[in-house]
Amino acid sequence: MKTLTHTFHYQLYTYDELCETDRKLIDAAKAATRGSYAPYSQLHVGAAALLSDGIIVQGNNQENAAYPSGICAERTTLFYANAAHPDKPVEALAIAACSGGEFTHSPIAPCGACRQVMLEVEQRYHQPIRILLYGTEGIYVIEGGIRELLPLTFDASFLK
Ligand code: THU
Repeated sequence: MKTLTHTFHYQLYTYDELCETDRKLIDAAKAATRGSYAPYSQLHVGAAALLSDGIIVQGNNQENAAYPSGICAERTTLFYANAAHPDKPVEALAIAACSGGEFTHSPIAPCGACRQVMLEVEQRYHQPIRILLYGTEGIYVIEGGIRELLPLTFDASFLK
């Protein structure tokens, strides 16, 4: 028997320590929470994707009375980015969440389904997505992309 270890690399930034592009992306994710439709959870999540030509695409969570029919902010954003700009790789994705009128203190973390979609987007464009997770107490930046957050992935290689 061998024990195998997965090491997860991420950085903790203050907002002021981020470069201007990252600050802009965080601002866009925070602004996107305002369009969230979350009458059931009251958790208003926003996401912003930076595309290869500098365009920023925003999205948010959209809930439904039939709960599983709703969708998370990350998938709304990535699916829209890919639908509207299929020729432009996604370089970075920022996420923020607001509850009771306040942004979460801890950085919001994407759910498993959204991590799986991020993996597919990375593989489609052959490049990692920098991931920025906003919280009022700090911002996690994951430079290595989704593999840091989703080890032992299921992907198209298993379907061949
Ligand atoms: N949600 C997101 O939009 N993104 C996340 O990263 C976590 C969860 C949404 C789904 C649902 O509308 C609400 O937050 C509560 O789970």
